[in-house]
Amino acid sequence: MPNLMLPGLVDVHVHLREPGGTHKEDVASGTAAALSGGFVGILDMPNNTPPITDRQTLYQKLGIYRAKAVSDYGLFVGFDGEHVQATVEAAPLAVGLKLYLDETFGDLTTREPARLAEVFEAWPGPGPIAVHAESASMRVALQLAERYGQRLHVCHVSHPDDLFPIDAARQRGVTVTCEVTPHHLFLSDEAVERLGAYAHVKPALVPSELVDLFWQRLHLVDAVASDHAPHTRTEKGEMPRQSTPAALRQKQREPQDPAMGARREASPAPPGLPGLETTLPLFLRAVDEGRLTLERMLELLHDNPLRIYGLQAAADSAVEVDLGTPYRLPFEGYSTRCGWSPFVGQWALGHVVRVRLRGRPVYEDGRVLVAPGYGQPLGRSEQA
Ligand code: DOR
Ligand code: ZN
Ligand code: ZN
Repeated sequence: MPNLMLPGLVDVHVHLREPGGTHKEDVASGTAAALSGGFVGILDMPNNTPPITDRQTLYQKLGIYRAKAVSDYGLFVGFDGEHVQATVEAAPLAVGLKLYLDETFGDLTTREPARLAEVFEAWPGPGPIAVHAESASMRVALQLAERYGQRLHVCHVSHPDDLFPIDAARQRGVTVTCEVTPHHLFLSDEAVERLGAYAHVKPALVPSELVDLFWQRLHLVDAVASDHAPHTRTEKGEMPRQSTPAALRQKQREPQDPAMGARREASPAPPGLPGLETTLPLFLRAVDEGRLTLERMLELLHDNPLRIYGLQAAADSAVEVDLGTPYRLPFEGYSTRCGWSPFVGQWALGHVVRVRLRGRPVYEDGRVLVAPGYGQPLGRSEQA
């Protein structure tokens, strides 16, 4: 069978941890992981150390990307909850504004309605406002976007019922889009039992009935984004090597230790899961199973990500995938510095063998072929 040729994909939600968390990931390892997952562009979140909440910090982070990135990129600016003007001044350098209305990793959460209203009113674009906002706070964000005429993007929708108020707002003329993560589509809260801290993420994984509803309502979803949020194995604690679905079925036949569950619930490990290298093989497997068409997959991973953020596809870019036969995602062997995957043991299809970006081969058989700094800021499209 000839290899499958795809356009270079774009992941609109990643955390590459530089500056401040380079033991988890840095711009070199994170953009290499992007290429090995078939993504030629990534949009990076502002919850770094220090947080990216003004022109100076954003400019410094852009400098790191300019020196080290091997994929293309766009960077978000955040809001420190206080200095609206500082956030506004960074807007021309940013791909969008990221607001956290619920608890997250880092301390960028702003819940105070008056402050949120101020920043919704003042944001000048051209990028949209992207929000980490689950259920109740998502409704607040929808109201603010409507009141101030802002373009809103809801990150990692946390419950399939949240898709309805988004759709209703859209019907009323609010410009709102949303993304769902692969972990909300391919894992359920069963994984928390099986993997402990390695399935701990915000928004949390949901019961399998709700996973089914996400799939049934996929027509209401604009994009899939990994929310690639690496933490090290040391930070997450011991991972069971036998953490496949088969091993779980075995475990379920054994008597449960109730104290174990309680300890896991109170997990002190930081929330977040890597995902850049597993999204495409998981989706190709879903296409193979007839759960969605290849065309719809490309809307979710290429067309709409660019449209939502008003970005141009990088010219002369392509991803070549050797489909082969279905396989189980491995325990190790990833390019991400954290080196693990919550999807370990899941069925997947396809290996990225070659990636072309702006006319040059940038990745082949596990190796990055370009020097650090080849990556460029994603260009704005005319209509944005
Ligand atoms: O689980 C999460 N991890 N949720 C977030 O909102 C942030 C992310 C991170 O940066 O680790
Ligand atoms: Zn988030
Ligand atoms: Zn995130």
